[in-house]
Amino acid sequence: GEGGITPTSSLSYKTIYPNNEDRVVVPEGYRVSILIKWGDPLDNGEPLNWNRVYEGPTTEDVERQKRCFGYNADFVGFFKLTSDRALLVVNHEYTNPELMFRGFDLNTSTPTREQADLMLHAHGVSVVEIRRKSDGSWEYVKGSPFNRRITGDTVCLISGPAMGHRLMKTSYDPNGLLVYGTLNNCAAGKTPWGTVLTCEENFHSYFGGDLSSISDDLVRSIHQRYGVPSRRARLYGFHMYYDRFNINREPNEAFRFGWVVEIDPYDHTRPPVKRTALGRFKHEAATTVVANDGRVVVYMGDDERFEYIYKFVTKGKYNPLNRTANFGLLDEGTLYVAKFNDDLTGEWIPIATVDGNRVIPNPNLPEPFQSDPVLCFINTRGAADLLGATKMDRPEDFEWNPITKSVFVALTYNERRGQSGYPGTDKANPRPLNHMGHIIEIKEQNNDPTSTRFTWVMAMLCGDPRATDENRKLYIYGQPAKETTPAISAPDNFAFDKLGNVWIATDGNPSPNRLAKNDGVYTLNVYTKELKMFLSGAPGCEICGPEFSEDYKTFFCTIQHPGEDGANTRWPYLGDGVVVPRPSVIQVQREDRKEVYL
Ligand code: FEO
Ligand code: CA
Ligand code: CA
Ligand code: CA
Repeated sequence: GEGGITPTSSLSYKTIYPNNEDRVVVPEGYRVSILIKWGDPLDNGEPLNWNRVYEGPTTEDVERQKRCFGYNADFVGFFKLTSDRALLVVNHEYTNPELMFRGFDLNTSTPTREQADLMLHAHGVSVVEIRRKSDGSWEYVKGSPFNRRITGDTVCLISGPAMGHRLMKTSYDPNGLLVYGTLNNCAAGKTPWGTVLTCEENFHSYFGGDLSSISDDLVRSIHQRYGVPSRRARLYGFHMYYDRFNINREPNEAFRFGWVVEIDPYDHTRPPVKRTALGRFKHEAATTVVANDGRVVVYMGDDERFEYIYKFVTKGKYNPLNRTANFGLLDEGTLYVAKFNDDLTGEWIPIATVDGNRVIPNPNLPEPFQSDPVLCFINTRGAADLLGATKMDRPEDFEWNPITKSVFVALTYNERRGQSGYPGTDKANPRPLNHMGHIIEIKEQNNDPTSTRFTWVMAMLCGDPRATDENRKLYIYGQPAKETTPAISAPDNFAFDKLGNVWIATDGNPSPNRLAKNDGVYTLNVYTKELKMFLSGAPGCEICGPEFSEDYKTFFCTIQHPGEDGANTRWPYLGDGVVVPRPSVIQVQREDRKEVYL
């Protein structure tokens, strides 16, 4: 191979093991540092006054949060500018008032107006320029003209089939064309034309009110299917201070969340666009791949128990010569949902097709999807329910591996599988009370991502190689793992290195039902099928956004919500007197500065 590297000689580092240390651990020969953290200024102003925010944020703090890095960093996307400058696009999934504010009780408290405002602006997305220092690590650039905060209040456009639909209209937007903000941005993907597809996941969490007093049956039934309103709304308080988050004042606002949102990191004047042809659900990730014929395929998961896996195939073709010609590509095409058969085959079932301004009705769907086929995009779950799709164990990240030309899907866990009143096991979700999670590898027919047929294998049944309970034991491609293999649970996010090795970040190891250890990053060598642990995070955190620099000499990931669920930490302990833990993007390099995967 290139430079004398052969696949089997990759990932030569000595594995670490799951632990409970109050720091980030990496293998010998690697170094780790913080790149940017919650509250760091993107402009030339002051950082957020974390300790004052903790005591009770002021309107001045709310104003600073609009210009400072947001909370709970999730997806990280690296976009090259030059060999030593790049843009990072980072999602800010949600906020933890119990960690941000003194005395906030998860069971009883409601936020003040200033706390709610600060949290609304701590959500969304950051675009931030980074540059390489002489020691090979990266620093972010304060005041870069590229730096941008998109928050829960930034104007986003609506495009695609649902634009202008009656369910998309509200009193502040009577034509159904724009929305304030993007929320619960979990994972995401990068397009070949250099934009980000950020995914609105648990958007229901922000909506309060009383479902039974909504008189429109259709509105009520769709909200019910998506869990709107949510008891979690009390933790954010948005519905108390903004009418649009109260479903009784503004019953349609929730239809304007739950989308894939396209952002151009290179041009801060372009508003984010909610691409409604990609369907509405609790979007976890959106990974693109260009098929041989030039059409673009987007793989997506709906992360809730017993929800589905989707893909979208564009009608038009990717134009590598004209960047902006691709900006409307995701508005036309066909949305599919996956069915996994027990014989290790599967099919992509069409839900609906957008052709020009028209949605072609699906003959296999009953009313009201026939007379109003746009509902396939607004109530995508409802349509998928009627088409025989397979109910999965919480589909999280879903990524195309360019080396193996297959798609990896993380099914994080589903402790209700097989419980009474819930669906039982099937070959693709084989464990009852699935606490550990699993990973499926999908091979599209003829390696063509536009195919409607595929085969699949169980790449990993997560767990501990030493477990005596079969449902908690680690299997890799059907083989029990060696006893020296590190235990793994709750796979969530993926990245692939240049050789096709799978980098797996977890969200759930700390649970006593799983490993009772910190979450981490693991690597699966796709040739030797060997699993190692590369990094472990702070107590209570999940690890997200695994990403490489373009030269693979830096590995980025995030330490999201350190201290959650009562974990006792104030990580990252920077000696600056700040009393709260701070979610951060971190970076890892080899001490010899070579590629991380060697
Ligand atoms: Fe936000 Fe499904 O993780
Ligand atoms: Ca996730
Ligand atoms: Ca990913
Ligand atoms: Ca997760």
